[in-house]
Amino acid sequence: CRVRNYKFHVVSKNVTRLCSSKPIVTVNGKFPGPTLYAREGDNVLVKVVNRVSYNVSIHWHGVRQLRTGWSDGPAYITQCPIEPGQSYVYNFTITGQRGTLLWHGHINWLRATVHGAIVILPKRGVPYPFPKPHEEKVLVLAEWWKSDTEAVINEAMKSGMAPNVSDAHLINGLPGSVANCSSQEVFNLAVESAKTYLLRIINAALNEELFFKIAGHNVTVVEVDAVYVKPFTTDTIIIAPGQTTNVLLTAHQKSGKYLIVVSPFMDAPVAVDNQTATATLHYTSGGTTTTELSGDSPTVLTTPPPKNATQIANQFINSLKSLNSPKYPANVPLNIDHSLFFTVGLGVNPCPTCTAGNGSRVVAAVNNVTFVMPNTALLQAHYYNITGVFTTDFPANPPRVYNYTANITQNMGTQNGTRLYRVPYNSTVQVVLQDTGVIAPESHPVHLHGFNFFVVGRGVGNYDPKKDPKKFNLVDPVERNTLGVPNGGWTAIRFTTDNPGIWFLHCHFEVHTTWGLKMAFLVDNGKGPKQTLVPPPNDLPKC
Ligand code: C2O
Repeated sequence: CRVRNYKFHVVSKNVTRLCSSKPIVTVNGKFPGPTLYAREGDNVLVKVVNRVSYNVSIHWHGVRQLRTGWSDGPAYITQCPIEPGQSYVYNFTITGQRGTLLWHGHINWLRATVHGAIVILPKRGVPYPFPKPHEEKVLVLAEWWKSDTEAVINEAMKSGMAPNVSDAHLINGLPGSVANCSSQEVFNLAVESAKTYLLRIINAALNEELFFKIAGHNVTVVEVDAVYVKPFTTDTIIIAPGQTTNVLLTAHQKSGKYLIVVSPFMDAPVAVDNQTATATLHYTSGGTTTTELSGDSPTVLTTPPPKNATQIANQFINSLKSLNSPKYPANVPLNIDHSLFFTVGLGVNPCPTCTAGNGSRVVAAVNNVTFVMPNTALLQAHYYNITGVFTTDFPANPPRVYNYTANITQNMGTQNGTRLYRVPYNSTVQVVLQDTGVIAPESHPVHLHGFNFFVVGRGVGNYDPKKDPKKFNLVDPVERNTLGVPNGGWTAIRFTTDNPGIWFLHCHFEVHTTWGLKMAFLVDNGKGPKQTLVPPPNDLPKC
């Protein structure tokens, strides 16, 4: 194991996409940002220097941060933001994880342009549990707005209505030849015939689950969210914001250019986004595989699934199982100490000051609590016993009758609060997440910081506490850090609270987080020597 030192300079940069330019916030002037490489067991030190006029904060999405919550990154949850001109060193050790994750800005909508890959290689000498690929390629999927993204969300919060959808999707920063002027903005993935590649696919989009498909090629899924899965073959993958998926791609054709498509999966009736991003899989003859050729149009085409292709999405999600081998066992908690039931959904609350929406605004909530961001970081308040910042009375169950359908007013009528759910160290927790809606039901990719969880069950309609647990998979359920609660359905997760600190849970659709679909767990210290949160670092930003 070694120490990996990184410097992330947060700087503004002018970028042109879709025929128009705007300044964006980047790390080291790169978009997408630099890939962070490490091996399992390494100590990673990232010095983040803020050279823009915004407050910033960076989250290492999916990194467990065992006992190092100070380095997790969500602003006002585990740290105060890094102010303009200030810096902060994130210091964490990668424990028991290998695979692909992502890092991203974690304040307001900074993540729109501040994001990049985390590649964690296995410990030296430890092979992958699948054939060694000829080469590895990172594919970062994202969204692009022609206008400034902070202005987009600020405008929406003023009006009370939904923000504008993005103008394009991106594959490694490029939309594909979707507009006349973007014919040069195409990512080319160069491969050699008969070789196998590991694609590390990351969804860094703000608000869209995405389909990914390559003309004339199937892929074999081998890992999600930095956990190995039982390999399976598919022609389409579905990936939610915050999720990562590693696939093996064998270049079994002789030559040619094959279209790659990335398009939104949105099964809610209010869905409005139809944008497809394109890239090219380009066969080259030996020696030039690292050259990314630009501007070639593919000759073998494919069409993306329709945006409401729920069956294709379900088939993919239901195929995901933990590898559960002797080396990589799935240690699913069998006895549950805390059984929780969370409704997650969108609704409307009164808003006399809103400029649209007839005196109401869109809000989101967990168990009818719309989470209010505090003015100081929760973790500091907890560590230094500062009172009045949060309460620990987050409800274990919804306060009212709920229903997965829309227009049930009990679904919402939310109350504002900074309420946490407190759990002792090393407890087992089950959370059933139930989608509800007043406007419309919608899928919610829910992310939990600080833990991986097992997805033991999933279904449509209202969760049935009598029948549904009998169908739980307690043997080889997929283990991950972000999961899609299905539109008008539920999903059940289990995890063990082996990580003391304060851990954010929220919808990874950034717009839903902004609206309040978030809460946090407070996990107490254990009694043993390695069961306590480490003390805060000296350079921890202050509010
Ligand atoms: Cu990837 Cu709290 O987020």
